[in-house]
Amino acid sequence: MEKNELNGSKQYWEETSKEYQLVTRISINDFHYGPLLPGDSTVNALPEKLNGLRCLELGAGAGQNSIYLASQGAKCLVTDISEEQLAHGKQMAEEAGLTLDFQQLDLDDINPSDLGQWDFIHSTWAFPFAENQKAVIEKCAKILSPGGRLHITTGHPVFAGEWIQLDDFEEGMFLSDYFEPPREVRFTEDEESFVRTRQYPLSTYINWLIEAGFKIERVLELKPLDLEFKSEDELLLSMPYDSTVWREMYPQIKKVPFVVTYIATLND
Ligand SMILES: C[S@@+](CC[C@H](N)C(=O)[O-])C[C@H]1O[C@@H](n2cnc3c(N)ncnc32)[C@H](O)[C@@H]1O
Repeated sequence: MEKNELNGSKQYWEETSKEYQLVTRISINDFHYGPLLPGDSTVNALPEKLNGLRCLELGAGAGQNSIYLASQGAKCLVTDISEEQLAHGKQMAEEAGLTLDFQQLDLDDINPSDLGQWDFIHSTWAFPFAENQKAVIEKCAKILSPGGRLHITTGHPVFAGEWIQLDDFEEGMFLSDYFEPPREVRFTEDEESFVRTRQYPLSTYINWLIEAGFKIERVLELKPLDLEFKSEDELLLSMPYDSTVWREMYPQIKKVPFVVTYIATLND
C-alpha cells in the first residue's frame, strides 16, 4: 500500500508536469508562496542577504523559486521526485543564463549524509505528498547549518474541507475533522496507483519544528491579492503564481487560506 503510493506520486507527477507548467504562470522574477498570493517582493520573508547563500529546494517542480534566488546570487540545488519537472526547470535556467544544480530526490528518501550543508531550505506545496512529513523536517535540521533558515509552504488544514453553499447568501468551508483533515486522492492515468496528500493541524507542524530544534520566526496565512481592484499589469508584477483555474477559486481563497508557510531558524 505504502510503496504503491510512492510509485504513484512519481508516475502521477511525470504525467502531470507538462500540463502543470503549461496552465500555471509561475514567475522567476519573484519568490512565490502559492496561488494568487503576493510574492516575496511584497511579503519580505526571505533571508536578508541572498548573494552567496546555499539554498536547497525540496519538491521544487521546475524550481522557479530557486531560479529567482539564483538570479539574486544564491547557489541553488533544485530537487523533485519528477524528472519531467526538473527537465522543465533546467530549460528555464538555461534560457535565463543561470547556473543551478538539479537532482531527482524523493522527500521520503532523503539521506542527510548525501546532501551536504545548506543555509536555506525551502519547499512550496510538496510536503503534503510526503509519507512522513515529520521525518523530512528532522532531516532538514540535520542538513542546515547553525542559524540556517527553513521555509515550508504547505497545504492549510482548513482548506482540506469542502466548500459548500447553505443558501443563496451563505457559503463557506465545511471541515468534518480539523485533527484528521480529509485526504485528497489523485490517481495515475492507468488508475493502477495513486497518491494521497495530507494536511496537519498547525500545532502539529509547529511542534514538529520545535522538537527538531527550530525556532519559529513567522507563520504566514497570506491573503490573495485583490483581483477585483488590481489591473492585469499590476497582477503580473505582484502575483508570481497564477492560473485560470486558481482564479476561479478566488472567492474561496480570499476567505480561507489555501496554504500556510512556516518560517523557522535552526537553533545554534
Ligand atoms: C504542487 S507541485 C509544486 C511544485 C513547486 N514547488 C511549485 O511551487 O511550483 C508539487 C511538487 O511536488 C513534487 N513531489 C510530489 N511528491 C514528491 C515526493 N515524494 N518527493 C519529492 N517531490 C515530490 C511533484 O513532482 C511536484 O513537482
